[in-house]
Amino acid sequence: MGDDLGDIDLANPDSYVERVPFEWFEHLRHEHPVVWHPEASPNRGFWAVTRYHDLTKVHMDWETYSSEVGAVGLEELDDEQLEIRKSMLETDPPRHTELRKICSKKFSARGVGKYEDWIRDVARSVLDRALPLGAFDFVSEISRELPIRFLCSIFTVPHEDAPELITWGDQMIANQDPDISAAVVDRVNTEAYRLLPFRSPTALEVFAYADRQRDERLAEPTDDVITALTAAQSEGLLNDREFHNYFSLLMIAGNETTRHTISSGMLALMENPDQLRLLQEQPELIPPATEELLRWATPVLHFRRTATRDTELGGVPIAAGDKVVTWYVSANFDEDLFVRPNMFDVTRTPNDHVTFGPGGPHFCLGAHLARLETKILFQELLPRLGSIEMAGRVERIRSNFVNGIKRMPVRVTTR
Ligand code: HEM
Repeated sequence: MGDDLGDIDLANPDSYVERVPFEWFEHLRHEHPVVWHPEASPNRGFWAVTRYHDLTKVHMDWETYSSEVGAVGLEELDDEQLEIRKSMLETDPPRHTELRKICSKKFSARGVGKYEDWIRDVARSVLDRALPLGAFDFVSEISRELPIRFLCSIFTVPHEDAPELITWGDQMIANQDPDISAAVVDRVNTEAYRLLPFRSPTALEVFAYADRQRDERLAEPTDDVITALTAAQSEGLLNDREFHNYFSLLMIAGNETTRHTISSGMLALMENPDQLRLLQEQPELIPPATEELLRWATPVLHFRRTATRDTELGGVPIAAGDKVVTWYVSANFDEDLFVRPNMFDVTRTPNDHVTFGPGGPHFCLGAHLARLETKILFQELLPRLGSIEMAGRVERIRSNFVNGIKRMPVRVTTR
């Protein structure tokens, strides 16, 4: 690594397997808040941005720090890949605004609020099935269930499809974990998939599924998200490829991230029994505590922008074309913004975390939904728990992008 970095290697997926290397981020925030970070070839390296206020600057100034001219992940894409793999995430205004509008009402506070009772019923049925098991994997029995079932509902696709959708989403996003995907991007040759999202062959199955759903909506339109995407395509707002990429984005973004918030939140509560007790004794604290669960979980480690002109950030010159990577997992623990950031405090207020992004046009479309799902799950779960403890080792996903738990064996008693 470079002189300023010592052993620090933020790009290596292995760096996150045991745990997030928080001490690296703390060191960078204090000593080198904007620093050049080399990468293995064929990538050329990036600026690592680790302080809260610098992240905000980057995300608010989309004209200088574009989502469109490069990509939004560490992988460097050529023009053909960029064009073919482009979704709303990889566009700047005004095109981004057009694309986001297609679905934004469905994901507004009012749009998702309509589902509150329904989400509560699903959460109860998930818990009714899981808790009597006594000892089980919290991820597969609880965290994984709620987000995917909700997606099935707003997509109005059969709930029997949920396991397949989960597998597809996992294989695409966890494309660095050999336990989850056969096409591990940094270990096998994935050149044949270079034009697919996440360089994943699974994308083809998702596209075929999306086509079947679109054909059904063309025959019989409903009020769901896929009908909104189908109508946008009929009106010429989306071409075939953009339809596929939009569908995949929603499926992936809406599934895995919320799952990890729920798992990491539960882990934090097990590790901090006083905080768990507090929420059980005062359940009215659960809605505001959801923000601390989200901060603590930070399921997305970073996103990337590309500089469109020579500029300066934190006193460091950035050249046009440079990759600029903003580390949410660092900003969420920045001492300049959070008092005692390494303390898990469910009463923390204010709690201006950047888990959904630090603002700007790409602020997470699903933030209302993720908050609602997390809040309801804990509101339903905590009053029913007599005790909960770890019953094995927590296993984390091998990824430099997703901060996630793949297995968490627990033992519970109920009240
Ligand atoms: C705790 C759960 C979630 C986390 C941590 C999360 C995180 C994020 C982040 C950090 C971004 C910003 C990307 C950027 O700046 O380039 C984002 C964007 C996005 N998220 Fe989420 N997300 C979550 C849940 C969801 C859900 C439930 C959905 C619903 C389908 C969703 C859909 C999206 C979409 C479509 C975008 C792109 C927005 C745009 O480019 O304008 N997310 N998310």
